[in-house]
Amino acid sequence: MTTSTPAATTLAIQGGSPVTDTAIPFMKPQLHREDIDAAIAVLESGMLRAAGRCAELEERFAATSDATHGLTCSNGTAALQLAYGSLFEPGDEILCPAWTFIATVTMIVAAGCTPVFVDCLEETFQMDPADAARKITPKTRGLAPTHLYGCPVDIEAFEALAKEHDLKIVYDAAQAHLARYDGKGIGAFGDAVTYSFYATKNLGTGEGGLVTTNDDTIARDIGLLRSHGETGKYLHERIGYNLRMNDITGAIGCSRLDRLPTETKARQAAAARFDAILADIEGLAAPTITPKAESAWHLYTVKFDPAKFTCTRDEFIEALKAEGVPTAVHYPRATSDQPALAQWNKQDTPVSDSLTTRVFSLPMHHGLTDEHFETIAEALGKVAAAYRA
Ligand SMILES: Cc1ncc(COP(=O)(O)O)c(C=O)c1O
Repeated sequence: MTTSTPAATTLAIQGGSPVTDTAIPFMKPQLHREDIDAAIAVLESGMLRAAGRCAELEERFAATSDATHGLTCSNGTAALQLAYGSLFEPGDEILCPAWTFIATVTMIVAAGCTPVFVDCLEETFQMDPADAARKITPKTRGLAPTHLYGCPVDIEAFEALAKEHDLKIVYDAAQAHLARYDGKGIGAFGDAVTYSFYATKNLGTGEGGLVTTNDDTIARDIGLLRSHGETGKYLHERIGYNLRMNDITGAIGCSRLDRLPTETKARQAAAARFDAILADIEGLAAPTITPKAESAWHLYTVKFDPAKFTCTRDEFIEALKAEGVPTAVHYPRATSDQPALAQWNKQDTPVSDSLTTRVFSLPMHHGLTDEHFETIAEALGKVAAAYRA
């Protein structure tokens, strides 16, 4: 009796050979020599507090986002805290996505406001303007859409809603640096836009954040909230926090900002390659972009159709992992379904709730090579064929 070796088409998870033995990085946070030198120069100066490098980052980041003002802060959560704190009063109702990272919503609660969950659109995963319109009450004061995965929301629809009902808008662009809408940077829209520079974001500084606005009063207010409400030496006009950045972070941010346009273009090219690969695989849908939007492609999130396969989404991604292709789930739970937010969950966001078992994100960064794309295409095709319903 002879024992045969498993055929090339046998899934690695079932004992076959994997498509690759070399792990593909899911993300590629990477400091270059010049980033390290920029940080060292600040360390050598001895002046570590927020000073020239933070000011430079504020000015340049605002300019590349088509905004008038930029204010650095300690992280993207702090950026939301500052924007909400400057625009809303305790008791205000704020319409926010059920499908986002939790900070978009927890900072609404931290500001003493009431989050009202809005479902996302099946096609784009972005906050649904029509569901938002349905949920407006006399207490609604604001909209807090997230440009999720790097893709701008339907800004035109939200701006129309805000105009009609006299609402303020804070866009959470933690994942969407350099994204554009209708030919303009996303900083051109809304009352404030918040960004995160967390280590794995498109522009990562370790921790860090920034708010852009086009309103002088909001900019001044956020500046006060960011640093103890201080208007003069030990003179404090209002209650504030310490949510400042420092110049080491600012220097890394400036240095990485030099490369961000090129790296964003590489992400956009990667997304186009993935779109082409997925066009040939029934049951896996490429993400759809909001009309008029240009995504910064922080994440490339695929929709899995359970009816087309004999396996679950989790079994599918386990099989991909065995073939050498890492994935991640953004997100395994709707934000509205988080235990910490249970009191605001009205169970009226069915699309968000059902996406939890239907999406997965492919590796996405500026360092993907032709070989990576070929491996990912082969692995997706192999696993899809093996589990074809
Ligand atoms: C959509 C969104 N909002 C806010 C944040 C919070 O940013 P940070 O981690 O810098 O506080 C993140 C970070 O993951 C995010 O993805």
